[in-house]
Amino acid sequence: MSQQHLTYSPFDPEVIADPYPIYRQLRDHAPAYWSPGASSWVLSRYHDVCAALTDPATYSSASGIFPTPPGVDMTELFLPMLIMSDPPRHTQMRQLVSKAFTPRRMTELESSIQTVIDDLLDQIPDTGPWDFVSGFAGPLPAIVIADMLGVPREDRDQFRTWSTALIQSNPAHGEFGPGLAAAAALYEYFAGFLAERRAHPEDDLMTALVQAEAEGQHLSEEELLGFCLLLLVAGHETTTNLLSNSAVLLGHHPETRQKLADNPDLVPAAVEELLRYDSPVQGLARTLSRPVDLHGQHMQSGDTVLLLYGSANRDHRAFPNADHFDINRRPERQVAFGRGPHFCLGAALARMETRIALNALLKKRLFNWDIDLPGAQRLHSGPIRGFASLPVQ
Ligand code: HEM
Repeated sequence: MSQQHLTYSPFDPEVIADPYPIYRQLRDHAPAYWSPGASSWVLSRYHDVCAALTDPATYSSASGIFPTPPGVDMTELFLPMLIMSDPPRHTQMRQLVSKAFTPRRMTELESSIQTVIDDLLDQIPDTGPWDFVSGFAGPLPAIVIADMLGVPREDRDQFRTWSTALIQSNPAHGEFGPGLAAAAALYEYFAGFLAERRAHPEDDLMTALVQAEAEGQHLSEEELLGFCLLLLVAGHETTTNLLSNSAVLLGHHPETRQKLADNPDLVPAAVEELLRYDSPVQGLARTLSRPVDLHGQHMQSGDTVLLLYGSANRDHRAFPNADHFDINRRPERQVAFGRGPHFCLGAALARMETRIALNALLKKRLFNWDIDLPGAQRLHSGPIRGFASLPVQ
């Protein structure tokens, strides 16, 4: 099969329903593929994706990382952001925010996460259908991020409403209106919040961000606001989708579900395999700062390149029998959190949240449930893989 016979776009509903067959074709027959639907080159092999992620001088993030259909521009949605910057500024900013985003702070969240999960599960009806996304997987990460930042309890519902509006505005369909309004409201809220923490420091992430300093450098007000919004964009829907994708996968593998319920110690390894097998972030983009020749294709300076993490994670060149879901695999090299300088800052938090959530679900609910997959609605957000709704019995 040649490049001409392949058609791939991350916005194609058939691809969104099941991207894995076309990924295999891309890897085997067109490892450097031009996608008219995404106006970008597409790299799908594990080795190529990792090489690009660790070469930010060639594969730049500064012009944006979300692949968009032709004619859609998302850059106006965001203030200067860590995730859309290159070294050396990225290195400085990352050093600054890492001072606030410490492993100690993550560990301290553990017991409050458990409480949030128990509260959410208590609100689920004992009989009858409920929606896994709106009832559990959606609210959990939003509440955790709000708690981590130090958002007061009384502002929590408002915060969640904005956060949900922000992540539900769909770039693939140019539906920016509600997202822009929510982003503006969040910026205003965070600006007031930052001023408050400057005047009255507390032991929370927001105070730590305001106080973070490295080699005489601070984050500017715009960078601080951008980072707060980034935490929501990067940490909310991704975790929601990991939980939803996990619920579906474990629904399809009752023997694994039973094994995990009997052996909670196996859950951390299972989370890694869930991340590998059905990655919430299937791909993000870079822009070439110089021409690159790869697999017989000439990619020009300024071209966009979509890096398919979700395909890299299914590449048999890196993972033997890659299409087989196996929690004994220990896939340390999976790239669901990216690789290189932009490696997910929230990976430890996402892993912890998912581990605690799965343990609680296995104990209380997930153990004997039925997922109404035909009744579920997939997200249509390009390479972000998950569900808008997931009815459960
Ligand atoms: C399962 C859940 C998650 C997944 C799959 C995920 C995935 C990713 C990926 C793939 C990247 C790399 C972006 C790139 O290559 O350009 C990234 C970066 C990032 N993530 Fe996550 N993420 C998750 C949860 C979180 C959480 C919970 C937070 C924080 C609350 C978070 C905060 C960030 C930040 C701040 C960055 C940017 C780092 C930088 O540019 O240096 N993520 N994430």
